[in-house]
Amino acid sequence: MKRIIAITALLLACLACLAITPALALAQKQADTNKPSSTSKDFYHIVVTPGEDASTSVTINYHTNHPYSYILYADVQVESCVRNQFVKPVYELWSTKDIENTSTSSSFYTNGRFVCHATISNLHPGTKYEFFIRCGSFHPNVDSDTCFFTTAGKKDKWNFVAFTDFQSVPNSITHQLIQNMKEIGNNPPLMVCSGDMVDVAGWEDSWTWLLDNDAFRDFVYASSPGDHAYWADAKDRKYPQYTEAHTFNHLFHFPQNGAEKSKNTSYYFFYNNALFVSLDMNNSNISRGEKFDEQTRWFQHTLDSLKGTYQYLIVLMHKSVYGSSIIDSNVGKYIRPQWSPIFQKYNVDLVLSGHDHVYSRTHQLDGDHKSTIKNKGTFYLDMGSSGNKRRAVDTSLSESDGIHAKVIDLKTKELSFAANIQVTKKKMTVTVYNQHKQIADQFTIKAKRR
Ligand SMILES: [Fe+2]
Repeated sequence: MKRIIAITALLLACLACLAITPALALAQKQADTNKPSSTSKDFYHIVVTPGEDASTSVTINYHTNHPYSYILYADVQVESCVRNQFVKPVYELWSTKDIENTSTSSSFYTNGRFVCHATISNLHPGTKYEFFIRCGSFHPNVDSDTCFFTTAGKKDKWNFVAFTDFQSVPNSITHQLIQNMKEIGNNPPLMVCSGDMVDVAGWEDSWTWLLDNDAFRDFVYASSPGDHAYWADAKDRKYPQYTEAHTFNHLFHFPQNGAEKSKNTSYYFFYNNALFVSLDMNNSNISRGEKFDEQTRWFQHTLDSLKGTYQYLIVLMHKSVYGSSIIDSNVGKYIRPQWSPIFQKYNVDLVLSGHDHVYSRTHQLDGDHKSTIKNKGTFYLDMGSSGNKRRAVDTSLSESDGIHAKVIDLKTKELSFAANIQVTKKKMTVTVYNQHKQIADQFTIKAKRR
């Protein structure tokens, strides 16, 4: 299939070479002399993210030193080259130079590169596609490895897997946990994360370890940003960090439908009968202000305008509304009062969080209380860690507080978690596994909407 696609694209590649402008030729020279030292690959940090409607659209984001690369893709079931397609990405010549508080030792700083993203639309629902990236400026052509993604379908029964806080990286657990969940979830087409994928977002080596790995392939991926997406360097919190999630926003291109001040870190997408919404909780020291107020307005406006278009409502947000106020005092002071009434108003089904590095899962809550009304209320799941950064239970979280149904000390037991979530028209079943493939928790969310 790859060879057939290659022949089809040869003419397109030649045309692309003829189109080189002086400005782009200069950019190419600059990029070539700054070839990243952290990876020898021509195309790296390749991530497939959902389009606003994940049944017909995805976006592929990648970094490269080559200008004029393009993406070739095909339905794996279709052998005729006539249906093979290509798409040219949007380019940005980028490094972290001139960004506040960035680390000059990071290869994001020292190695300029092209950051490319291309949204592929008009895909067929429930279909597996293969793709690769090509730079046609050389002979022979320079190609990426072949990758895959599967679009959302309109199935009555489907599943996805969820993670949180892969940090710190590298570690010996994260990739094994992802492989485990691929097996348990039978190669789930969608993987989500509630943030803190790496410890220091300004360090490219961490991202290389996470993203340029076979475990991190063949699914559509969505994550909310964690506070560590705002870390430019490993300095302590007294040191000012990024004011925007710069590296996150250049590694992942999500639907551009979020709040204006949190574009790409807040967003939503439809996946089968579910609506996923990502929220940006910023860094740990800033959980209030106009950026957050705007995001709450955007959330409510979005949910009002999308009313009746989904059956399940799932939120990805790094900090847990009912998480630890000891680990992050802003949870109790700002986040809970701001978001709990909104989630109650919109009857959110499930909020996936992290941040505390402690496992805590609530009862179905109607506001701040255990729900007593059928078809009303929200489950809050903070899985704590899908890596090796763990904390012992603190006294602000308790299974006897009327809020939390399950609290697990990850640190003492050396546990890391991920969840497989089965969705049908009648219910969602959330099963949380540890790194030994043992079930740690399970709960059911009955459908509230038709
Ligand atoms: Fe974290």
